[in-house]
Amino acid sequence: MGLQWELAKKYLHYYFTAGNRHDVHSPFVFDLVEKVLRDKKNPAVFQEIEQVRKSLLHSAETLQVTDLGAGSLMNAGRERKVSDITRHAAKPPKFGQLFYRLIQYFKPEYLLELGTSMGMSTSYMAKAASPATVHTIEGCPNIAARAGRNFDALQLKNIKQHVGNFDTVLPGLLKELPRLDYVYIDGNHRSAPTLDYFEQCLGKAHEGSLFIFDDIHWTPDMEAAWHTIQQHPRVTFTIDLFFIGLVFFRPDMKVKQHFILKY
Ligand SMILES: C[S@@+](CC[C@H](N)C(=O)[O-])C[C@H]1O[C@@H](n2cnc3c(N)ncnc32)[C@H](O)[C@@H]1O
Repeated sequence: MGLQWELAKKYLHYYFTAGNRHDVHSPFVFDLVEKVLRDKKNPAVFQEIEQVRKSLLHSAETLQVTDLGAGSLMNAGRERKVSDITRHAAKPPKFGQLFYRLIQYFKPEYLLELGTSMGMSTSYMAKAASPATVHTIEGCPNIAARAGRNFDALQLKNIKQHVGNFDTVLPGLLKELPRLDYVYIDGNHRSAPTLDYFEQCLGKAHEGSLFIFDDIHWTPDMEAAWHTIQQHPRVTFTIDLFFIGLVFFRPDMKVKQHFILKY
């Protein structure tokens, strides 16, 4: 409860102080705000994915879950309802839809997600990235299997699921991929592992890569990780949208900048 109250206070601060496109003096970021963040298009694919989310939210199914990372603040025991997992773990439509637009805008070819859960964010990413493959890692086999059914329901063929702990799966997977264009890190929300995954992925990053970190303000520990990432010498600028943080490596910023934008 204490943590959630802290988070609510931080969010209010963000809400009243975050900038908008008029505060952005970089043409690249201005364009991104105009064409991606503020885009209001609502393609049919959004409804298809939201129908799946709706059915999960109404499902009476339960799963035996293997807990690997720092779970949700609401985390319960080992047997969990699919509806609860979906409610607490899946990124809301607004962010899935932002991922879709980011991918359509940047057209990444090598995409990686850490933390599949029910596959809601993965589905948005895969629909936008097709025919490129989205690699997604999930540590709980039962959750991964359930996500697989969601991908089938959405006729998504361009998702490669990897089941296992990020710590063991990621190094091998990175060896297989020539580079990383788009990375979404949404699992094990603790500073040390987050920084470890960041460092590992950096080995395959390039100037055009985009890394997205989830829950950057969730706890003081995650905020510390976010600040360390922002200070990394290869990071040229970041965009803080409160619930997620975008990390860029493009050389076009003369001075490192950290934007906090309302979304
Ligand atoms: C917040 S959920 C992902 C939500 C999903 N990206 C979405 O928005 O729909 C995080 C997932 O990461 C998995 N996870 C956490 N720590 C992990 C680890 N160390 N290795 C593998 N999976 C892990 C959890 O089992 C959980 O399903």
